[in-house]
Amino acid sequence: MQRIIVLAAFTSCWLFAQPLKLPEYIKPCRRYAPDVQECILKTVRATIPHVVNGDPKYRVPPLDPVLIDRLEINQGSGSVGMSIIAHDAFLRGVRNVDVLNVTHNFEKRVVDFDWFFPEVRIDCIYNVTGRALLLPIEGYGNGTIILGKVRAHYTYHWDTTKKKDAKDYYLINSAKLTFDLPEKMSINLENLFHGNKLLGDNMNRFMNENWKEIIKDVGPGMADALGEYIRQVLNNIYSLVPVENSFIFDKV
Ligand SMILES: *[C@@H]1O[C@H](CO)[C@@H](O)[C@H](O)[C@H]1NC(C)=O
Ligand SMILES: *[C@@H]1O[C@H](CO)[C@@H](O)[C@H](O)[C@H]1NC(C)=O
Ligand SMILES: *[C@@H]1O[C@H](CO)[C@@H](O)[C@H](O)[C@H]1NC(C)=O
Repeated sequence: MQRIIVLAAFTSCWLFAQPLKLPEYIKPCRRYAPDVQECILKTVRATIPHVVNGDPKYRVPPLDPVLIDRLEINQGSGSVGMSIIAHDAFLRGVRNVDVLNVTHNFEKRVVDFDWFFPEVRIDCIYNVTGRALLLPIEGYGNGTIILGKVRAHYTYHWDTTKKKDAKDYYLINSAKLTFDLPEKMSINLENLFHGNKLLGDNMNRFMNENWKEIIKDVGPGMADALGEYIRQVLNNIYSLVPVENSFIFDKV
């Protein structure tokens, strides 16, 4: 059993938004061209440097670092469960992403991404209670997690919704982020056990020695929370650009 709450930081005022064209740094692909998949991959790769620092006009929040107000992961229950709340979380490393693959299945309305991140670093204020691999853990303070060589897969299913302007807009209802076991991970939680240094040092050492087990425990919850965040970011953007502006729909 797992519960995830994400509060995004960028839901600012968008009440009177006008339908937009794609930003000028994105060259639209031809929907019916035989090489549309290659075009999409090229376009995604070319877009990242333009959006990594954010683009307010398109409601793209800064992506490196990404600031996540609050991220909550509850998993397991009772004595084996762990509750983690992270707030003011800065996630760094997106700018160095290598987009390995993007496919858009127009018939199934499914988009798949394969990403590779050389390094991902998360700095946050954490609040944890529960058990980590059966050992009790409790604490509140600054925390840092660094993941080395992360391959992630993101897939979403889109629908369309008609807005007041009578145009269709994409809407992502379901999305899933997963990642492979990274090559390495280091974790440092300050101030564990109310600042008891001996217990805290031991717990950090224990977690770093058993990082593969820890990541199997909390990784899926983290991935779900981040996947939900990405879904919100994409929906924010998609609610600005009507479907008709997203591709060139001429038949070839
Ligand atoms: C790209 O992703 C699609 C969908 O997940 C997959 O079918 C295809 O094999 C992938 N291509 C490469 C080169 O990884
Ligand atoms: C940590 O979270 C728990 C609920 O999970 C809450 O009761 C507690 O006040 C929090 N501690 C701090 C220092 O915010
Ligand atoms: C986190 O670290 C900063 C800078 O060292 C410090 O000012 C702050 O009090 C710490 N926060 C917590 C919750 O311990």
